Amino acid sequence: EMGGYDYFMLKEIAEQPKAVADTLLGRIDPAGSLTLDEVRIPPGVLREVDKVVVVACGTAFHAGLIAKYAIEHWTRIPCEVELASEFRYRDPILDPRSLVIAISQSGETMDTLMALRHAREQGSRVLAICNTNGSTIPRESDAVLYTRAGPEVAVASTKAFLTQLVACYLVALYLGQVRGTKWGDEIRAVVRDLAEISGAVQRVLETMEPVRELARSLAGKGTVLFLGRHVGYPVALEGALKLKELAYMHAEGFAAGELKHGPIALIEEDLPVVVVVPSPRGRSVLHDKIVSNIQEIRARGARTIVIAEEGDETVVPYADHLIRVPATPTLLQPLVTTVPLQVFACELATARGNEVDQPRNLAKSVTVE
Ligand code: F6R
Repeated sequence: EMGGYDYFMLKEIAEQPKAVADTLLGRIDPAGSLTLDEVRIPPGVLREVDKVVVVACGTAFHAGLIAKYAIEHWTRIPCEVELASEFRYRDPILDPRSLVIAISQSGETMDTLMALRHAREQGSRVLAICNTNGSTIPRESDAVLYTRAGPEVAVASTKAFLTQLVACYLVALYLGQVRGTKWGDEIRAVVRDLAEISGAVQRVLETMEPVRELARSLAGKGTVLFLGRHVGYPVALEGALKLKELAYMHAEGFAAGELKHGPIALIEEDLPVVVVVPSPRGRSVLHDKIVSNIQEIRARGARTIVIAEEGDETVVPYADHLIRVPATPTLLQPLVTTVPLQVFACELATARGNEVDQPRNLAKSVTVE
């Protein structure tokens, strides 16, 4: 049932191009418009939404952090993202014009379920983004957009995460489409780019051998840091989470702009630091700032592991290891930059002799608060 792979996690990483394509199936058309009739919240209600709140845990929370960039950019609706376990205990401000999005692979996570129940009690609509048909979270929500990753067996989430991102982009673009923001042309262009993204994920998978080699060479290390900014920041958090749960290593993700406010003190000789570099097109200011961050940490001895777009030559002089990903629109970049981090964590775990599919102390579905 592992289809020739040694672990479910490897199989599930490899299934990502298909999972992404399946999640788009029937929901976009080549002309650049979206069909999300399955989201049974009337367009009239969606036009009245004045706040979006995303609740989720763990990896699904990271998908939510990325969703915020997409939702606010394409819809201009303010969006908050909150850990489901914190949400209801702070008496959040919700009303019938708030749209709450609950993201969950299993659909059974108790913290997320309690958060959505709380939101519905305040009269808010809840849209679930979920991978498990008929599970509790979609059953208790007003509407659901299913991710189509197929069953995810490995405890560490991989293909579910990529499909959660796709679903979040679809929701953001759909809200933009329904509300007719000034980004109409951009929305249509991005929808067309989404149609190509599965091929880009496949290309990343085909170039992972150097990443595996690098991971094996770092098996004796104690700490790995991850830096990113904009949508690359949640990707850094996700890379660190994967490494913690699989390799049992100390791993932390930081917003690169925060370096000088503290974390740079951690940099020491030969410390591996993974940096997710934004596209030099699009928000090029951020790109240039992160390149100077790479220079700064390298000058202090860090071993820089740089994930950058194909054709971005500016990073070459400062990268001890360079991992290339295909060029994508800025907001979609997490779909390609996350993949090397999954492979990296999986290979490091194996090199350290850990049980990849069943990390210690963790369960696939967390049904207690
Ligand atoms: C990390 C991981 C967990 C889950 C989290 C939420 O690899 O798997 O952090 O993402 O427990 O689970 P779901 O999505 O089922 O609500």
